[in-house]
Amino acid sequence: MSQKLVLITGVSQGIGNALMRNLLAKSSYKIIGTVRNASDKEKVMQSLVSDRTKSNLDERVTLVNINFLKELQNKQEANDWIKSISADASKHFQNTFTAPNILINNAGIMLKNDENFKNMSTVQLVRDTLKVNFFTPFYLSESLLDISSSSAHSPTILNLGARVCKLSTNNYLKSIPEIGETLKDKVFTPEKSQLTSEDLYHLLTQSVMKNPDYMSTERISKIPAALPDAPYLVSKVFLHALTKIEGTTRQNAQVNAVDPGWVNTRLTSFKAPLTPDKAAQNILQLLDTPLQNGQLYGDGKLITYV
Ligand SMILES: NC(=O)c1ccc[n+]([C@@H]2O[C@H](COP(=O)([O-])OP(=O)(O)OC[C@H]3O[C@@H](n4cnc5c(N)ncnc54)[C@H](OP(=O)(O)O)[C@@H]3O)[C@@H](O)[C@H]2O)c1
Repeated sequence: MSQKLVLITGVSQGIGNALMRNLLAKSSYKIIGTVRNASDKEKVMQSLVSDRTKSNLDERVTLVNINFLKELQNKQEANDWIKSISADASKHFQNTFTAPNILINNAGIMLKNDENFKNMSTVQLVRDTLKVNFFTPFYLSESLLDISSSSAHSPTILNLGARVCKLSTNNYLKSIPEIGETLKDKVFTPEKSQLTSEDLYHLLTQSVMKNPDYMSTERISKIPAALPDAPYLVSKVFLHALTKIEGTTRQNAQVNAVDPGWVNTRLTSFKAPLTPDKAAQNILQLLDTPLQNGQLYGDGKLITYV
């Protein structure tokens, strides 16, 4: 079987780390994992070494240090970065890869419960959440699709979504009907999206982010506390929309979103029932299953976006 190169963002902990470990158990995958802190590179590698089920690690995995709050500010930078890490991986693995065959946009943040962000302004909170959860996957997937369209490459993209960010349960977007309705009528309901990914980008940057009222503390404070915070809800609903657009309008690519369940990680303050390992196994099953392009899946089943 031919070897596939998989790029997973955010492998230092949580679901991303479990995805990497589970893929390493299968011989047909080589992995590029990203870590935000340089010091984590050694730690993550060491933890894989001590995991005795993993052999020939140097031939299977390479870690790249990148902080998405600081790097990849546009599509061109993402394009250059993907080409550069693919070239480095080709040398490292002694194989020729023009680009990853599979991209898993896993890295994500929800700052509501994070002590480090207690004193952050609402605007900054929104910007940071959108940068990691939406703009980075946007730049990476659009670049990978562009690189692939000029080569004989059919990439698979999996975006970590969240069923709690469906439109019908998304109380935050209900409070901005003009955005919720646009996404419903032009992206989620038609079989093929009527908006392009650039339209989506502009909808977010030119309307949501330019209108201070959309992100006001008053509006955000109305979101029930049990739900993810408002910036998280917005970031994931736009990520779902990007998935639908790319999956239904781009040729030669399989693009899906996946809800991992409620998983016991830092993001859920380690209070959730599902282990990252089980979540990773559920997610990776999708790679071997025929899926409807552009759709959201959870527990192996299709979940509607609206
Ligand atoms: N846990 C759940 O129940 C759940 C449910 C639905 C969806 N999801 C989604 O699943 C994905 C993984 O979540 P998780 O629960 O595994 O969270 P997690 O344990 O907090 O892991 C998040 C990963 O993202 C990385 N990351 C965060 N900010 C970054 C940045 N600025 N630059 C580069 N990497 C960054 C983290 O690196 P550091 O270690 O350096 O912070 C970490 O590796 C997220 O997209 C999340 O929204 C999770």
